[in-house]
Amino acid sequence: MSSSKTKILVVTLGIVLALVVIFSVYKAVDGDKDQQPSVTPTVAVDATTPTPDGDSGDGDDNGAGDDADGKEEFTGYPVRDTAEVLGTRLSERYKDCFYVGTCMKTEHLNDPNLVALVLEQFNSLTCENEMKPDALLNQMACMAEGEVTVVFPANTIKLLDWAKENGFAMRGHTLVWHSQTPDWFFREGFKSNGAYVDRETMLARMESYIQQVLEYCNTNYPGMFYAWDVANEVFSDNGDTFRDSPWYRIIGEDFVKYAFTYARKYAEEGTKLFYNDFNSYIPAKLNNIYMMAKSLQEEGLIDGIGMQSHLDISYPTAAMYLDAVERFSNAGFEVQITELDITTDANAAGHEKQAQLYNDIFSKLVIRDMATMINVTSVTIWGVNDGRSWRSYGDPLLFDDSLKPKASYYSVLQQEE
Ligand code: G3I
Repeated sequence: MSSSKTKILVVTLGIVLALVVIFSVYKAVDGDKDQQPSVTPTVAVDATTPTPDGDSGDGDDNGAGDDADGKEEFTGYPVRDTAEVLGTRLSERYKDCFYVGTCMKTEHLNDPNLVALVLEQFNSLTCENEMKPDALLNQMACMAEGEVTVVFPANTIKLLDWAKENGFAMRGHTLVWHSQTPDWFFREGFKSNGAYVDRETMLARMESYIQQVLEYCNTNYPGMFYAWDVANEVFSDNGDTFRDSPWYRIIGEDFVKYAFTYARKYAEEGTKLFYNDFNSYIPAKLNNIYMMAKSLQEEGLIDGIGMQSHLDISYPTAAMYLDAVERFSNAGFEVQITELDITTDANAAGHEKQAQLYNDIFSKLVIRDMATMINVTSVTIWGVNDGRSWRSYGDPLLFDDSLKPKASYYSVLQQEE
């Protein structure tokens, strides 16, 4: 071997030796971290016997430890195979706190794997579209009869019958809404090109519609509906004004009061009546919802606030969101989280952030429930798996396209009461 080759070999061996020494010293002073790689769970997931989550005793119970700066360091959630999920279920985990629900379309009944998952995990159900006015109002029948004619189509009945057979508690969604309500419903003769009707006609149509829908449910599904979204999204997106809709234009602001009056009149005793909206944590919208709901409450017309909760990992913060839950609760309203989903970036970091926000919301709903008397009675995730979500672009749900549980699923289970 030439002397230059010998020199290179000696230098290389020296570098390798130095690296080995540095690594050994690092391991010696940092043994704890070596026990807990950042993606390893700090807790065994078991819905029935919650175990300590390795949190540092900071009282936040969010699955995060504190680092040297006192900042919370995310320690990750396990991702396990579906088979291992058996024995854990969301509805069981939160049975002493609130219903845990999902929404379904009738076509989802064709997927036996999805059906099995829904039966295993949830105890509350909402029809994603099948009970909206455009599903139940039949234009031909209305025109033929010359009056509001509700026809529950086979598609809707199939899903409701399945829910009944399987013992689900249902949220009724939704009676009075600007969207998915046919424009002809507001026009003379129920004709697509008719002139818009007057206030008295529209109030009569509203009452007839609500009466027919609720009486059909009372008769065919007694005791199944524990809540109804009576009015949906009455305020503008940011909430500073009433939304411009045919309901608002034809009847005026008090259309909401009439909707609740009719719903109270025809709903089964014990069914709770809700005002339901999104962005309800934005201050202007929160205030307007609060003021309107308070005046309905004084007349005994409303029971609760539905917070839809279409969130993103970047907004709002858990604190901002939970403050709104607390404000509605403290004003004497039952609160139901009616359409929870959290969009995120399609990468590992995004999914960890999503898991953290799901965890924050669920754990703190439970913790605040005990500490501040908040009154959350139902939490519905708006869909079963990412691929079927209306916001599928943002992977917003607890199960992935192939129905495998995500980190967010485990983060929701991973709570202590
Ligand atoms: O009606 C047509 C049907 O005739 C056609 O066969 C089918 C083919 O894809 O499309 C049907 O309409 C779709 C409808 O869902 C029923 O599947 C619409 O295109 C689609 O836009 C509609 O989306 C729904 C959306 O409401 C409409 O506003 C979503 O599934 C549903 O998740 C979403 O839910 C709402 C809540 O009710 C209220 N809060 C906001 C949330 C998102 O808008």
